[in-house]
Amino acid sequence: MTAPVLIATVAELRRALEPLRKDGVALVPTMGALHDGHLALVAAARERTRHVAVSIFVNPTQFAPHEDFSSYPRGLEADATKLAAARTTLIFAPPAQEMYPDGFATTVSVKGPATGLESDFRPHFFDGVATIVAKLLIAAAPDYVLFGEKDYQQLLVVKRLVRDLALPVEIIAVPIAREADGLAMSSRNAYLSQAERKVAGQLNLVLKDVVAALQRGADVVQAQSAGVAALKQAGFESVDYVALRDAESLAPVSGLEKPVRLLAAARIGKIRLIDNFPI
Ligand code: PAJ
Repeated sequence: MTAPVLIATVAELRRALEPLRKDGVALVPTMGALHDGHLALVAAARERTRHVAVSIFVNPTQFAPHEDFSSYPRGLEADATKLAAARTTLIFAPPAQEMYPDGFATTVSVKGPATGLESDFRPHFFDGVATIVAKLLIAAAPDYVLFGEKDYQQLLVVKRLVRDLALPVEIIAVPIAREADGLAMSSRNAYLSQAERKVAGQLNLVLKDVVAALQRGADVVQAQSAGVAALKQAGFESVDYVALRDAESLAPVSGLEKPVRLLAAARIGKIRLIDNFPI
């Protein structure tokens, strides 16, 4: 098991990737605190290319001042051990100053699929994501970039960004990795107390019930409201949304004629969980 090379600057990253390009390069952007969901992305990348680069950067611009940037879990050593086992070629873990030098004044802003849902509750979020993902793609210029369906709206935002800017990269979407009870894996799950963890496990079950009701022909608005009520009943303190949307555009839908996605975000204590299912 060779340890991945640890790289901290864009210049070094470009130098390190240059000789690897002939065999193909895949990039997996992450914020670290890696779990099996992230490792599923690395595995999917390894199926396509010899060389996988994983970026680990807790991106300050996608957190609002009141959010958990300072307490977001960090552990580069443990992450590096997992990535060595997953046969990652290199880790790009830049300091904040490298990605956002003094006087940084550029924002990449996607509209379309970034509108609504997460943006209604985290208005700064997708500008931060689009800006850092654009920087990472320009820095690494990979053949493939991998994103999880766990962050389904983020995946669509990145797809639009890549299409609109004609970035020469293929996006690979990876299905959600789940715990035994169905809870979508997330770095933030580490914050859950035992009692909260139990409640968290209900999110996927409630969504599956809503999916089943919709498939039986339930009215969309009523099924969404029933989902919100069921989540509160299960112990979630507040529910940001339970929403059936077009799987491509994220536009609201009133039926199951086209491919659709049921998406939800709900809060327990300080933790905000998201999940989604295709229909
Ligand atoms: P992060 O939350 O670390 O997630 C990195 C990638 O792992 C994302 O593509 C996310 O969708 C995927 N992922 C997380 N949990 C997953 C799960 N349970 N199953 C499948 N994939 C999962 O998303 C971000 O970081 C950031 O916004 C980033 C894109 C790195 C930009 O800063």
